[in-house]
Amino acid sequence: MAKWLVLLGLVAASVALGYGYLGPESCQGCHPDAYAAWRATPHARAKESLSAAQQKDARCLSCHSPAEGEQQVANVTCESCHGGGQYYSARYVMKDAELARLVGLVDPSEKGCRTCHDASSPSLKPFDFVAKLKAIDHWSVERKKREEGGADKADKPADSSKDKGEKK
Ligand code: HEC
Ligand code: HEC
Ligand code: HEC
Ligand code: HEC
Repeated sequence: MAKWLVLLGLVAASVALGYGYLGPESCQGCHPDAYAAWRATPHARAKESLSAAQQKDARCLSCHSPAEGEQQVANVTCESCHGGGQYYSARYVMKDAELARLVGLVDPSEKGCRTCHDASSPSLKPFDFVAKLKAIDHWSVERKKREEGGADKADKPADSSKDKGEKK
C-alpha cells in the first residue's frame, strides 16, 4: 500500500509542476508520422485495457492514463513523455531546440520509462530499455524525412558538383 501512495505522490507532483497539456491531436498536424506510429502502440490505448471500474481507480490511472485528472488527456500520450506542450509547440519555439527545452520540452529518458515500467507493472520480464525503445519507434520516419530534404533543406542545391569542387 505504501508503494502505491509514493507512486501516486510522484505522479501528482510531476503533473502539478508540469506545463499544460494540449493533447496528442495538437501534435498531429506537424508530426503526422510520429502520431501515426504512436497510435499503433499500446500507449495510445492504455486506458482501454482497464475495465470501467478500473478506469476510475487512481492506482491504475497513474500509469495507464496519468494526465487525466489534472489535464484531461487520456492514455499515455506524447506529453506523458515529452512534457506538456503549452509553451513549446509553437513552430518558432519548436525550431529552436534550446528554447523548446527551456519552456517544457523533455528529452524522454530510460528513467522516465521506468516510472511506469517498474516492479509494479504486470510484466514478468525486467524492462529491456533498448528493445522496448525500438518497439515504440516514431522518430526514424521523422528523421528520414528531414534528411531526404524537409522544408528546411528544400532550397539547397541537390547536385554534388560542390563536393567535387572542394576536393580540387
Ligand atoms: C506548429 C507545428 C508543430 C507542432 C504543433 C508541434 N511541433 Fe514538434 N516540432 C515542430 C518542428 C518544426 C520541429 C523541428 C524539426 C526540425 O528542426 O527539423 C519540431 C521538433 C520536435 C521535437 C524534436 C525536438 C528536438 O530538438 O529534438 C519533438 C520531440 C517534438 N517536436 C514533439 C512535439 C510534441 C510532443 C508536440 C505536441 C505537444 C509537438 N511537437 C507539436 C513543429 C511542431
Ligand atoms: C512512451 C514515451 C513517448 C511517447 C508516448 C511519445 N514519444 Fe516521442 N519520443 C520518445 C523518445 C524516447 C524519443 C527519442 C528516441 C531516440 O532519440 O532514440 C522520441 C522522439 C520523438 C521525436 C523525434 C525527435 C527528433 O529527433 O527528430 C518526435 C518528433 C516525437 N518524439 C514526437 C512525438 C509525438 C508527436 C508523440 C505523440 C503522438 C510522441 N512523440 C509520443 C518517447 C515518446
Ligand atoms: C506514464 C506511464 C508510462 C511511461 C512513462 C512509459 N510507458 Fe510504456 N506502457 C505503459 C503502459 C500502461 C503500457 C501498457 C499499455 C496497455 O496495453 O494497456 C505500456 C506499454 C508499453 C509497451 C508495449 C508492451 C510491452 O511491454 O512490450 C512498450 C514497448 C512500451 N510501453 C515502451 C515504453 C518506453 C520505451 C518508454 C520510455 C521511452 C515507456 N514505455 C514509457 C506506461 C508507460
Ligand atoms: C506502475 C505502473 C502501472 C500501474 C500502477 C498499473 N499498470 Fe497495468 N500495465 C503497466 C505496464 C507498463 C503494462 C505493459 C507492460 C507490462 O506487461 O509490464 C501494463 C499492462 C496492463 C494490462 C495488460 C494490457 C494488455 O493488453 O496486455 C492490464 C490489463 C493492466 N495493465 C491493468 C492494470 C490495472 C487493472 C491496474 C490497477 C490495479 C494497473 N494495470 C496498474 C503499468 C502499470
